[in-house]
Order: sequence, then C-alpha cells, then structure tokens
Amino acid sequence: MRILSGIQPSGTIHIGNYFGMIKKMIQSQDKGDLFAFIASYHALTSVRNKEILEKNIFEVAVNFLSLGLDPNKSTFWVQHKVKEVLELYWILSNHTSMGLLERAHSYKDKTSKGISANHGLFSYPVLMAADILLFDSNIVPVGKDQIQHVEMTRDIANSFNNTYGEVLTLPLSKVDNKVSTVLGTNGEKMSKSYANTIDMFGSKKIIKKQVMSIVTDSKQLDEVKEWDNCNVYNLCKLFMNKNELENLQDRYKTKGEGYGHFKLTLFDKINEYFEPFKEKREFLLNNPKEVKEILNFGAVKAKKIASTKMEKIRYLVGLS
Ligand code: ADP
Ligand code: TRP
Repeated sequence: MRILSGIQPSGTIHIGNYFGMIKKMIQSQDKGDLFAFIASYHALTSVRNKEILEKNIFEVAVNFLSLGLDPNKSTFWVQHKVKEVLELYWILSNHTSMGLLERAHSYKDKTSKGISANHGLFSYPVLMAADILLFDSNIVPVGKDQIQHVEMTRDIANSFNNTYGEVLTLPLSKVDNKVSTVLGTNGEKMSKSYANTIDMFGSKKIIKKQVMSIVTDSKQLDEVKEWDNCNVYNLCKLFMNKNELENLQDRYKTKGEGYGHFKLTLFDKINEYFEPFKEKREFLLNNPKEVKEILNFGAVKAKKIASTKMEKIRYLVGLS
C-alpha cells in the first residue's frame, strides 16, 4: 500500500506541526511504502524570494530527517526534482472542469482574505492531483482542510479513466480524528500566523519565553487550581504519561505552587522530548552536502516510478 504526503516548505516548525502531522507521517514509514516530498512548486503560490524558498526547503529537509524520516525506508525528495509532475499536471488540466476548481474551499478562503487570485493559486488542486496520481498513491494522510483536494483528485482521475481506461489509481484521504488541534500559548489553534507558537528547535531562551507567555487565569500561589481547560496542563498532556499527569493534577490541587512552576515543568518536558533529535539536526545543518545527497537519492527513486507512469500516460493520450 502506497502512502503519499506533501509538505509545504515553511521554515520554522512548532509543536502543533509536530503532534498534528510530522510525528504521524514519520510513523507511517513502518506501516507502508511512504512517499514524502517537499512541495516546492506549491510553495511558489506564496513565496516570491529565492533565498527564502531555498532556505525553507533545506530546513524542512533537515527537520524531517532529524525527527526520524528514514530515506532508506521511505522515498523523500523535493518536488521540482521530478519534473514529470508538471507534464501530468497539464494533461490533467484538460480533465478538470472550471466548476470543480471554482468550488475549492481553500481557493475561496484565500481570495476572501484578500490574497489576489492568480492562475497558480486557482489550479493548485490540479498540481496536487498530479502529485498523487503520478505515484499510484492509495492513501493520502491529510488535515481536514485538504480532504476536498483529495476528492477533487478522484474526480479528475475518474474523468481521465473514463476517456482512456483504468490507468489512474483512485486515492483515499486519511484523516486522523484522534489528533486534535494543538492549542497555542493564547488558547487558540497554534499557528505561525497567530504568533502563539512554541518552537521545537528554538534556543532554550526563546522556548522558555514562549512557555512563560502561556495565558492562564490569575489564581495565586495559595489557591487551589483547575487543570481542565488550563493551557499549561493541555500542553503537558502531549509530553507526559498517565502517572506524570496524575502527579501534576495533585500539584494543581495543592496550594503553594503557581502557574510559573507548572510552566517550568512543561519547559523541562519539552526540552527533554526534543533533546535526542538535536544532535542529528546540528550535524545535518552543518552538512548541507549530505542533505542534498539524501534528497537526490530520493529523487532518483521517485523519478524512476514517475517516468514509467508518464510513458504509459503519454502513449495512451497520443504523445508517445
Ligand atoms: P501553520 O498553521 O503554523 O501555518 P501549516 O498550515 O504550515 O501550519 O501546517 C503544517 C501541518 O501541520 C499541517 O498538516 C497541519 O494540519 C498541521 N498543523 C498545523 N498547526 C497545527 C495545530 N495547531 N494542531 C495540529 N496540527 C497542526
Ligand atoms: N496541499 C498540501 C498542503 O498545503 C501539500 C501538498 C501538495 C500535498 N501536494 C500534496 C499533500 C499531495 C498531500 C498529497 O498541506
């Protein structure tokens, strides 16, 4: 069973990204044939600066590799190194109705927020369909916002198959309802757009500052506190086992400690959790050549599959 996932190259990652997506994706390399790529062409819809895009691609690669993505168990590459995807994108465009694209929520959301519409943004779902269909993907793990794009991929594939025969594999999206949204320091969804994040790989000083800024009620040291709905306790749940959480509940019930103490406990747990990944990350950051080689190795594996598939498609449509 082939699992395929695309990751937008946005530089800094936070613990919401990790528990919402990265951790799950890396675990899936032991469950199936994982294809994971850095969606560099997709990023052009929002990044218009060469240095920033290059830096983001490198950082995403370093972060995923240091967090455990294994290039020998999975296929990991940068999208623009397998250009067949653009050829398929054009062929599929001719099987995509305007109405289908006009109904895309993400396009409508972005334009309603004032982002000016251009063809790249509008046709983004067709490129995503090409990403998925080029590799005969069976399962596409996504967040709720991306389900519609996988449905559109099925519609496009059906239209193509109706014309040329059963060539394209219809994918299924997989949403993990168990992974709820990680809340940020102000209690809203953690997001780099809301300045409420806790970084995974920031300096201790920065992470401590972020943790200390978590919003709580104003109960004093000599008052009993409630852990339900407490932003500090909710974040601790990501890092603590049952015993540790019971112990923390006891501390909430006992007078004498304040939220500052609980925040320091959380800060220690965050450091402890991500510490084992830091050495590898440091190494990769200082060895860009090695990162490049890993990505090239992945691109070669991906290209082999992509070119065989494209040969078949070209033949069927009359472009061989
Ligand atoms: P951001 O909202 O910070 O811009 P992205 O949109 O780049 O994050 O998200 C990258 C991935 O991380 C997506 O798969 C998304 O579902 C997941 N993710 C982002 N924020 C959270 C969160 N607060 N809780 C759970 N998952 C999240
Ligand atoms: N659109 C996805 C996002 O914004 C990234 C992506 C591009 C993707 N191509 C994909 C995800 C193919 C899954 C499969 O998060």
